[in-house]
Amino acid sequence: ADSLRDLAARVGLRMGTAVTPFELDNAAYRAITAQQFSSVTPGNEMKWQVVEPTRGTYDWSAGDRLVDFARRNHQLVRGHVLLWHNQLPDWLTSGVADGTISDAQLRALLHKHVTDQVTHYKGRIWQWDVANEFFTDGDASTLNAGDFWVAHLGPGIIADAFRWAHQADPTALLFYNDYNIEGVNAKSDAVYTFVRDLRAHGVPIHGVGLQAHLATQYGFPYQMRQNLQRFADLGLKVAVTEADVRTPVKKDANGQYTDEPLTPQAQAAQESYWAQSLQACLAVRECISYTAWGFGDANSWVPSWFVGEGAALLYDRNLNPKPQYNALRDIL
Ligand code: XIL
Repeated sequence: ADSLRDLAARVGLRMGTAVTPFELDNAAYRAITAQQFSSVTPGNEMKWQVVEPTRGTYDWSAGDRLVDFARRNHQLVRGHVLLWHNQLPDWLTSGVADGTISDAQLRALLHKHVTDQVTHYKGRIWQWDVANEFFTDGDASTLNAGDFWVAHLGPGIIADAFRWAHQADPTALLFYNDYNIEGVNAKSDAVYTFVRDLRAHGVPIHGVGLQAHLATQYGFPYQMRQNLQRFADLGLKVAVTEADVRTPVKKDANGQYTDEPLTPQAQAAQESYWAQSLQACLAVRECISYTAWGFGDANSWVPSWFVGEGAALLYDRNLNPKPQYNALRDIL
């Protein structure tokens, strides 16, 4: 049978997955990554915490391994992530907290980080997530003034990060990435206005990434296709960057959570959310990639971050494809 990547190639779409190098040690996982996907995103390996664990000493080994794997398997790479408040190195956050790193020094450190990382991977990254998760949730969404970077360096730091990344690799597509902006809502409205203004000021931003961490209990995002289209109409690419569809799961006899949805209705909703989100992307010409945040339920971030929820990916614990996988294949 044709793989997801083969089917997607016929309609000009890249199917992606997040991957971490330890998963590539597993032969079965490696084979599926290569066969089913035409794009990969490092789950953690290009985050600042990982690439500069001690100040001034880079460790690119894990990211390099993934980039080499991608090249061997004719895959493109989404670089993730340059500017984010999470998974920063301890030396950086503690230095800022105890005052040994001033705001001026912090800015210089960020400039160096963005420049060195983008330069290291120059020519080998298709899309960079330059900035991640800068907006507040809820009905009055705004740029989060309490964000680590915004609080120390002001909101203009986001535009600067895009400029620095573009300088280091003028051919990489530069993305703003966020969650809960899949549908038309207050947060996606705020992001829309923000990226429109960046474009108007000539900032080199080329795309918006919708993480798409969906959950059956919250419903499917309102007007996802229209939302993708309005970003595209600004002259931007769009991408689904971290798709998964979690749901509350059953406990086993020992009280441990399983990968089994509570009801058949929940399972059906999962299949439908995967299909609908891919359909939204397929309906918008500028939607260039659809990336799942991993593919085997054993490796999903969901059970440890959303206790009691799971079954969020396309394959089960034994790496057998689930109905979700067939739901995607059926509409490709
Ligand atoms: C997650 C990883 O999957 C986990 O392994 C890690 O412990 C935390 O981060 N939004 C993002 C991703 O942009 O970087 C996050 O990845 C998931 C939420």
